[in-house]
Amino acid sequence: MALPKSVRIVEVGPRDGLQNEKTTVPTAVKVALVDRLSAAGLPAVEAGAFVSPKWVPQMADSGAVLAAIRRRPGTRYPVLVPNLPGLERALAVKVDEIAVFAAASESFSKQNINCSIADSLDRFRPVAEAARAAGVAVRGYISCVLGCPYEGEVPVARVVAVAQALSDMGCYEVSLGDTVGVGTPALARAAFVEVGAALGPQRVALHFHDTYGQALANILACLEEGAATVDSAVSGLGGCPYAPGAAGNVATEDVLYMLAGMGIATGVDFEALAEAGAFICAALGRAPNSRVALARAAKKTA
Ligand code: HMG
Ligand code: MG
Repeated sequence: MALPKSVRIVEVGPRDGLQNEKTTVPTAVKVALVDRLSAAGLPAVEAGAFVSPKWVPQMADSGAVLAAIRRRPGTRYPVLVPNLPGLERALAVKVDEIAVFAAASESFSKQNINCSIADSLDRFRPVAEAARAAGVAVRGYISCVLGCPYEGEVPVARVVAVAQALSDMGCYEVSLGDTVGVGTPALARAAFVEVGAALGPQRVALHFHDTYGQALANILACLEEGAATVDSAVSGLGGCPYAPGAAGNVATEDVLYMLAGMGIATGVDFEALAEAGAFICAALGRAPNSRVALARAAKKTA
């Protein structure tokens, strides 16, 4: 299949990245990061999570973040919502999109949201229905699509079944999470093709963590099968608190470099995005560490 002419990047750094930081990131820094990312032209910036602050204290201020950001026309600001109390908090700050998050592995579902896959889907159904009734778009995540930190291999059929359930409850798109970043291209391709056959390839996004350095290769394999939406985190921030050892998402800088090199449009200003990466890394007290940022820094000092 021909490669897509354009790819939609869903920037998840302010949520997936910052949810995993040991230090508390001040609300003002989160707001400045989201604003810099939207100013770079990103069509979607995941800006927070209305989850239990007892479970993920790093996201406790998501309401304040959403209330303070400058909403740029052309950018959506999805937030994670696990249940009806979370939806209430999200609607109070007028979110435009929520994401419910299920898993393809029972053990991960239990660790992450304290219930079985079936119970989580039952819990998400009224959330999705109420969100859509309020005019809020609903996205669905599936974790552990290419492997589980507790169970190992995960059958593709289970991923397809969860994707179908999320689609049936009104998710406009389902994002395939390689939560622990263990997948390799043939596996990624198979998962994308199977879920794409069920939902339509345009409704399937790629959400690959880069623990084993496979994320770009996995994305390319799926682009060749018609994928056109990629989740990534500025400077490769993050991980998942319930997936020990998992690295951050594939870095947005690295995805942009690859896509630009292949003539695939994203609408994102690379320099502005790289500056957003430098900004958040300085705030976290570390050097930018996407491969592209490292290469550019080395070139400047050469
Ligand atoms: P629970 O303990 O089973 O449920 O947690 P609960 O209803 O008993 O709630 C516990 C306490 O939290 C209660 O407070 C609730 O009121 C409160 P208490 O009565 O003890 O004072 N609470 C809330 N507070 C604010 N907002 C809420 C909310 N809900 C409950 N929405 C629950 C179940 C789902 C709430 C919990 O497990 C949870 O919040 N989990 C979220 C975990 C999480 O955020 N993980 C990271 C994101 S997922 C991810 O990173 C993967 C992804 O990137 C894709 C990939 O890479 O694969 C998306
Ligand atoms: Mg993730």
